Amino acid sequence: MIDALRSELAALAPAMAPLEPDAAAREALMNLTFGHAQEFLGGLAEGPSYQDPAEAHVSPLEPEFAEQGRDPAAMLAYLGRSVDRPGITTASPRFMGYIPGGGLFHSALGDFLAATANKYSGFASAAPGAARLENATIAWLARVIGFPEGAAGTLTSGGSLANLTAIVTAREARDAEGGGAIYLSRTAHHCIDKALRIADRARAPRRLIAIDHRHRMRADALAEALARDVADGIRPWLVVASAGTVDSGAVDPLAEIAELCARHGAWFHVDGAYGGLFVLCPEGREVLGGIERADTVALDPHKTLFLPYGTGAVVARDGRQLFDAFSASADYIQPLGESGVGPSPADLSPELTRHFRTLRLWLPLQLAGIAAFRAAQSEKIRLARYFHARLSALPDWDPGPEPDLSVVAFRYRPATGDADAFNERLLRKVQEEGRVFLSGTRLDGAPWLRCAILSFRTHLAHIDETVDVLVRAAAALQSE
Ligand SMILES: Cc1ncc(COP(=O)(O)O)c(C=O)c1O
Repeated sequence: MIDALRSELAALAPAMAPLEPDAAAREALMNLTFGHAQEFLGGLAEGPSYQDPAEAHVSPLEPEFAEQGRDPAAMLAYLGRSVDRPGITTASPRFMGYIPGGGLFHSALGDFLAATANKYSGFASAAPGAARLENATIAWLARVIGFPEGAAGTLTSGGSLANLTAIVTAREARDAEGGGAIYLSRTAHHCIDKALRIADRARAPRRLIAIDHRHRMRADALAEALARDVADGIRPWLVVASAGTVDSGAVDPLAEIAELCARHGAWFHVDGAYGGLFVLCPEGREVLGGIERADTVALDPHKTLFLPYGTGAVVARDGRQLFDAFSASADYIQPLGESGVGPSPADLSPELTRHFRTLRLWLPLQLAGIAAFRAAQSEKIRLARYFHARLSALPDWDPGPEPDLSVVAFRYRPATGDADAFNERLLRKVQEEGRVFLSGTRLDGAPWLRCAILSFRTHLAHIDETVDVLVRAAAALQSE
């Protein structure tokens, strides 16, 4: 029996061999992959920021999955043709749609190292070095926000999960029995609505707070709504403010909202997924005052710290509240001893086993230094002001309100005809050309174009080119 099993096991070895390439094979694979990455990065400066997927043959492999391994060079060619190019190129310096970030190369190296060592970063006692790194990185984020000692947080896959984590924390801390009311404006990101559904608070009393002409929540309207509820015997539970709305980058009046929350005992959550981390640079700090008074802040390093997609963060002023909401134990999880490096990441997060994502944030901060991030953020805010000023100086353009951060919502004012239809055609034309990628939204029911400047690769020349592209496209449509 034992001998039979031994020979059966030996017979399996050749089939498994591709799972563990030897040193020479690893080097060859790495060289090929690195060459592919170099070619991709080298093509960004002049390549399109959008390529029509219909033209790009998003074709399946035939067969899609095969029993035997394939030629790596052919697979990389397939990725280049059918995955890298079609659709939007978010790494392009001229990608200014939705909320960009760019995707730092140092983070790709961090991901590679994390995946190679496959370090388990859930429990402090199992991987004290990894847990310490995550705790130190979170502590840095909390300090950037201005939180005191005792704050804690967790890295998530993005802003949506960061907001969800915060809302569950708020529910456990202040609304375990339900019945509390929620206050937010219509500019809140739709992930808040999703989070409230998942957290079983979709049917909680919800007050839609009016916004001003710059799309910011009106503190006087919030004050009224809170006072009305208190008078009616309804308990204010959660106020969700935006530190940079996705539509227009508007920052709600955080200091005034903090004051109102303190007065009424409401949980103050700031969705800073787009804009919160701008507090690192002086221009951002000027408009984000009050964020440090939040109970929880959702952040997205894959936006405002330029990381590749897959890294959000949530920080809680009182780390114990995050711990109370998410810590759990089980017989099959036994600590390996005292680690002395702070809490276990798994006790502060809905996740247990996950990618050691800290490295993709920690490594670029170490290699590039904080000053590089601060300068790049300052540049983005100034580029947005520049873009706004350039449009303001042109006849026929409505540059919208002065940007709070780095998103400008703007429109063209055609001499005649339907302005809404014109702006929709204008956006489509610019997108189809593919040189510069902008996206759109609706403000007060009307279509507006948005220029979201947040890639670390976007500089002055790209903004000048964007203005030229817009002016040319509008003139062409006017003459049709
Ligand atoms: C203000 C704001 N909140 C939340 C999100 C959701 O973040 P994510 O797409 O990382 O889940 C975004 C994304 O653009 C955002 O801009």
